[in-house]
Amino acid sequence: MSVAKKEYKRITTKTLVDMKKRGEKISMLTAYDYTMAKIVDGAGIDVILVGDSASNVMAGHETTLPITLDQMIYHAASVIRGVERSLVVVDIPFGSYQSDPKEALRSAIRIMKESGGHAVKVEGGKEIKESVKRILNAGIPVMGHLGLTPQSIYKFGTYTVRAKHEEEADKLKEDALLLEKAGCFAIVLEKVPAKLAEEVAKSLTIPIIGIGAGGGVDGQVLVTHDMLGMTHEFNPRFLRRYLDMYAEMTNAFKAYSIDVKKGDFPNDDEQY
Ligand code: KIV
Repeated sequence: MSVAKKEYKRITTKTLVDMKKRGEKISMLTAYDYTMAKIVDGAGIDVILVGDSASNVMAGHETTLPITLDQMIYHAASVIRGVERSLVVVDIPFGSYQSDPKEALRSAIRIMKESGGHAVKVEGGKEIKESVKRILNAGIPVMGHLGLTPQSIYKFGTYTVRAKHEEEADKLKEDALLLEKAGCFAIVLEKVPAKLAEEVAKSLTIPIIGIGAGGGVDGQVLVTHDMLGMTHEFNPRFLRRYLDMYAEMTNAFKAYSIDVKKGDFPNDDEQY
């Protein structure tokens, strides 16, 4: 039995490395559900991240720590059903890979098997090296995440810019090289000085995707709800808002409420 060939060309981990070689920037956004994923994919975004930021924007938690592996799998499976072209990367949530490499592999396998995701993302460098290797050895592509790592928020105590000082910057450079050597296909660098991020991007062959890491890296990622202006209480300097969805949606909900209350909705054409 043959499977019908689709017209579009799927983005793979190799596509991203080739894009870096050609100097073509990579676009990445988050999605946590089918409808959003379909729009993001249709718009030609290269990578969709099913981020554990779902814990914040979908579930309303203060941090990314509470979201569970089962919940991430639910979000990722919903996203996969809406995607035809983008590479879908799924965060392994806090508590599902830090304790030992076997647990890390079990979590990564569950994500791949139960959601159909294309790759996983983990936060950290040297500390999680063995877990990264174990996952990669099973044939699962891994994206790293360095700089501000929200799963360690209670260790750092703040969401301010990371690696401003030499010691931390040196560790970050070592970790980035270690992740590349281990076999990661890309690394997210979050909230670090632009000069440092550019240096890391230039020194590695795998793509560096920045968020609050300046323009000298190989691609950019934003949380979709933030760039759409749905979350208006979050205002970091790096965030560019492309819409004010908070205001747009509020106006639509108010207009609907007024129409319902005055009996204007539904009208004659809107009923059977
Ligand atoms: O969970 C997430 O959305 C992320 C991005 C901020 C990179 O990790």
